[in-house]
Amino acid sequence: MTKAASRRAMLLGAGAASILSACGGGGGGGYSGSGGSSNSSSSSSSSSSSSATGGLPDPSTAPALKTTFASKFKIGMAVDPGLTSQTITNAILVKHASSITAESVMKANPIGVSAGVYDYTQADNLIAYAQTNGIAVRGHNLVWHQTSPSWFFAGDPTDSGYKALVRSRLETYITDVVTHFKGKVYCWDVVNEVTSDDGSGTYRNSQWYQIFGDAYIEYAFRAARAADPTVQLFINEYSTEDSAKLGRLMTIVDTMLARGVPIDGVGHQLHINTGYPSVANVEAALTAVENRNLINHVTELDVSLYSDPGSCYGSPPTGCQAQITAGTAAYTTAMHDQAVQYRNMFNLFASHSSVKAVTMWGVADNHTWLSSFPIARNNYPLLFDTAGNPKSAFWAISDPTFTP
Ligand code: XIL
Repeated sequence: MTKAASRRAMLLGAGAASILSACGGGGGGGYSGSGGSSNSSSSSSSSSSSSATGGLPDPSTAPALKTTFASKFKIGMAVDPGLTSQTITNAILVKHASSITAESVMKANPIGVSAGVYDYTQADNLIAYAQTNGIAVRGHNLVWHQTSPSWFFAGDPTDSGYKALVRSRLETYITDVVTHFKGKVYCWDVVNEVTSDDGSGTYRNSQWYQIFGDAYIEYAFRAARAADPTVQLFINEYSTEDSAKLGRLMTIVDTMLARGVPIDGVGHQLHINTGYPSVANVEAALTAVENRNLINHVTELDVSLYSDPGSCYGSPPTGCQAQITAGTAAYTTAMHDQAVQYRNMFNLFASHSSVKAVTMWGVADNHTWLSSFPIARNNYPLLFDTAGNPKSAFWAISDPTFTP
């Protein structure tokens, strides 16, 4: 793996942290869970509707993705509450998705209001929508440093009972939430992004890690398994395509497996772009998981149009690539490159029987977290354009004879 790639991995984490803290996120519990912003509401956009239908097959002839890949893996999409009632995204979900993931509403913030107090309103609405439409649900997520409310950590860390108290809050939360969704989700991302972004350590130095070392991961998985003996339990991570980060993640997985911790699979977020990574890098990640007899899920796939320098992930961001406007020559090139990247990735996923679900982090280009991360800027990273029409990328993965 190149230095550039590992730097990008490091900076993606730093960037994610900074944007979430700008939104009031982090351990303080101020994260609003309001989801990604929308391209169509972006005032900086000179043209917010893409023209991916130009020269493409008639959208009405588009095959359902969930059918195309039924023999291989579930097709998932991340969903924020508004998307299920919006005409464009609802139609796509109902036709193409066999799995959905809550983009925000199943995280500990907002669900964990305070110790023993839960707000399942939005999550239950999403479950009801999925059940009505025959769509399975991925549980995302139980423990994430970005959305762990501050009440988990309340108390005096020098007190002799502090660790036991925080541990019992964690285990109670997981027991209650996993029990609530028992039979309604087929898997859980039990821990999210627990791996260090650089070689200074193996584990992310989160508040959880500072209190418990790696034991909190074990507590979380064991509590989830005790609450639901059959739901599949995942460790979810970004930049697994980076060989150094993959190595650290596999050290964590091996450490946990050696202790008998019930891990069923590894989630690969795969927030990638049109020029990175190579198929070989992603295949190395899938193979590493297979070698441990675990399941692979692709959990958050999107293909950004931008490949920014590291400074774009700094605070403040500088040197970010200029916005690409729909309808320009640069956009046409980007759509082509994106289609090739999607096709290469889906061909890879389909060639690995260990891959059981592939989730896109969004539905259509009218709503993507990448329109605000790492900066506010239009991005078109998904398979359907802002009007909900299949893009080149859609046809590239659905029809082997299609030329992007
Ligand atoms: C993001 C959502 O897309 C945003 O709407 C929200 O504001 C912050 O979280 N890795 C993850 C996801 O595991 O949960 C994140 O989702 C994106 C990065």
